[in-house]
Amino acid sequence: MTIKVLEPTELNILQCAQALQSGSLVAFPTETVFGLGAAVTQPSAVEGIFRAKGRPSNHPLIAHAHTGFDWAEGWIDLSSARLKAQFLALTQQFWPGPLTLIVPKGDKMPLNVTGGQRSVGVRCPQHPVAQALLKATGVPVAAPSANRFGKVSPTRAAHVVSELGVSVPYVLEGDIPEVGIESTIVSLLDETPRLLRPGRITAQQIEAVLGQAVAVGPAAGENAVRFSGGLEKHYSPDAKVCILSAEQLMAEPLPSSTLFVGWSDSFIEQANQKGGQLQNSSVVSNSGLPAEIEQNLYIWLRQADEQQWDCVVFEQPPALPEWAGVADRLRRAAW
Ligand code: TXA
Ligand code: MG
Repeated sequence: MTIKVLEPTELNILQCAQALQSGSLVAFPTETVFGLGAAVTQPSAVEGIFRAKGRPSNHPLIAHAHTGFDWAEGWIDLSSARLKAQFLALTQQFWPGPLTLIVPKGDKMPLNVTGGQRSVGVRCPQHPVAQALLKATGVPVAAPSANRFGKVSPTRAAHVVSELGVSVPYVLEGDIPEVGIESTIVSLLDETPRLLRPGRITAQQIEAVLGQAVAVGPAAGENAVRFSGGLEKHYSPDAKVCILSAEQLMAEPLPSSTLFVGWSDSFIEQANQKGGQLQNSSVVSNSGLPAEIEQNLYIWLRQADEQQWDCVVFEQPPALPEWAGVADRLRRAAW
């Protein structure tokens, strides 16, 4: 099989929706990263996701649907008044958008989507192509990021082709993902909401909407969950990834072929000096706006391998809430 790259015309979106309904896999753009979709009602397609990614089958998937989809019709269980109030407040504020909520699953949600767990991650993406595809499909679409397990998530259709081009029949193109890193994941399973994966929407924004504190990191015990974004090593290119401050840069021994990515004047200056001492180097400098860095982060990580750098050095992100997504992905990429 070779993958068909389709422009997101109305006709192609309809064709992809029909492919999903009849049990094919379809990769599609979202505002975060490209997803590898299967209709949750098609068990062999859902299995196909795990095969195509090389992902352990007990790792749960996120179910996606369009704005206006009625999740409460048996897909999720909102019978707890506490949970329902939190769910409605957050979805009203942040959907469609880069927020995934972990809630108890309903009877209709198959266990192969949830990795056997009684909870499910649900998300309503904002990207117009995702919205149109999900609306035309009519049932939730399970979609992890469309990359091989542990590798860098794709933010362009061409990345999907290079990662999964032999095991997936279709990829829809679309405008460049505005967010660029995966959705923020918040679990509502316990009274205190938990941030399981940081992203564009910050813990502070969640707290402001709910009027209560948010715990950070996975729960221990019964509501502990398996999730691959939580593995220490993830989002990894083959090149070595380092995270260094401008001050650390000069003293650090680096491979002879190194790419530097930074934003502060002092880091860029040090990187230029250090690079001058290496056989081969390049310095990418950018605005230092966290949103812009999120949008390009996976492009740089991918470039590290495409351009065969031995090492890519990122400037150490500041310890501020709006940098939590970048810091998290870099830490796992550097593991
Ligand atoms: O932005 C995104 O969320 C992208 C796009 C395609 O929507 N999707 C994505 O999916 O990042 P994936 O599978 O690469 O990451 C989903 C994360 C995983 O770490 C998964 O284990 C976790 O969500 N997850 C899913 N269901 C869960 C559950 N019931 N409990 C805890 N974690 C869950
Ligand atoms: Mg992923």
